[in-house]
Amino acid sequence: MRKILIVDDEPNNLQILRQILKDYYQLIFAPNGEKALQAVETHQPDLILLDIMMPGISGYEVCQMLKSNSVTEDIPVIFVSAMSEVKDEVHGFNVGAVDYIQKPVSAPIVLRRVQTHLSLVKAKSLENSHKAAIFMLGEAGHYNDTDTGVHIWRMSAYAGIIAKAVGWTDEIVERLVLAASMHDTGKIGIPDSILKAPRELTKDEWIIMKTHSEIGASILENSREPLFVMAAEIARNHHEKWNGSGYPKGLIGEMIPESARIVAIADVFDALTMERPYKKAWTIEESVAEIKKNSGSHFDPRLVEIFEQVLSEILQVKEEWSLRSI
Ligand code: C2E
Ligand code: SIN
Ligand code: SIN
Ligand code: FE
Repeated sequence: MRKILIVDDEPNNLQILRQILKDYYQLIFAPNGEKALQAVETHQPDLILLDIMMPGISGYEVCQMLKSNSVTEDIPVIFVSAMSEVKDEVHGFNVGAVDYIQKPVSAPIVLRRVQTHLSLVKAKSLENSHKAAIFMLGEAGHYNDTDTGVHIWRMSAYAGIIAKAVGWTDEIVERLVLAASMHDTGKIGIPDSILKAPRELTKDEWIIMKTHSEIGASILENSREPLFVMAAEIARNHHEKWNGSGYPKGLIGEMIPESARIVAIADVFDALTMERPYKKAWTIEESVAEIKKNSGSHFDPRLVEIFEQVLSEILQVKEEWSLRSI
């Protein structure tokens, strides 16, 4: 059962809210601002119903304090007040409240608003764990590589820039950015002795290395969520080449999904500019020249043109990430 802290200096008001909420939530009560702050620390409520005018610290001040503390900033605060002017409500929102309920309160409104804000918190927390899981999958693929997670997000950002310039909608671009981060998840199935070999791979090792595309796809295919459908498609096809000389299937031209054609450019550009156990980092000029040289053989020529058009934006992102990783 979720916990709600109810703060009011008027015992009668506490009683009314208690009657409305007691069957659905665990309730904690505080008669003033100071006790409210203590109760937050002790009980970590999921939501707070807060009176504004109280002796001592006002509700506004309590809210402000909670919002400026990283431990408590995400707890939704709903003001419950008889102050009914628009400016009071505005002030309430300015100090970080999510909602404002007028006294005298009505049971359906209190229940509905409380329920709504608790669901929003749950949705946000789900979204955060969703993103964390994606990040961990991406990281897992690079666990054996020398580089850190930074590479994954930088190359995903490049892919997003290209897709946007191609004309993809914001929603699908956002999906691509997350999906691209998982393109090498299958590397988790490749032994260290191959992944970390500081030399060219033997013929047999290379056969094993190339299976990372299919391994990744088979992991990511376990979900039918659109994000993972795209992620599996990218994992499977990101080493296909425009002229049909890539792997795993040797697909040609537009048989290769556009998502994977975009990621191919972002991946190679980023891999070239980075140090790997088996190679030194190339300069930006050398890396751009390599992409252009392979336009029409490795890469979709139309996408290489777009890559060149947005190069300044890509380099700006590269700059930002290199500052962040210091
Ligand atoms: P990766 O290091 O993330 O590289 C991704 C892709 O960037 C490569 O796909 C390749 O298309 C391009 N790339 C990276 N380095 C170079 C380079 O020095 N020259 C050129 N022309 N292209 C480069 P690819 O070739 O399918 O390789 C897939 C993965 O296999 C690589 O991912 C890396 O983990 C591994 N790998 C490839 N070659 C070697 C190698 O010689 N030794 C070792 N130990 N691993 C290798
Ligand atoms: C709830 O808020 O969790 C239940 C409210 C209701 O059943 O109306
Ligand atoms: C590699 O992927 O490291 C080899 C590709 C090349 O050097 O052409
Ligand atoms: Fe790969």
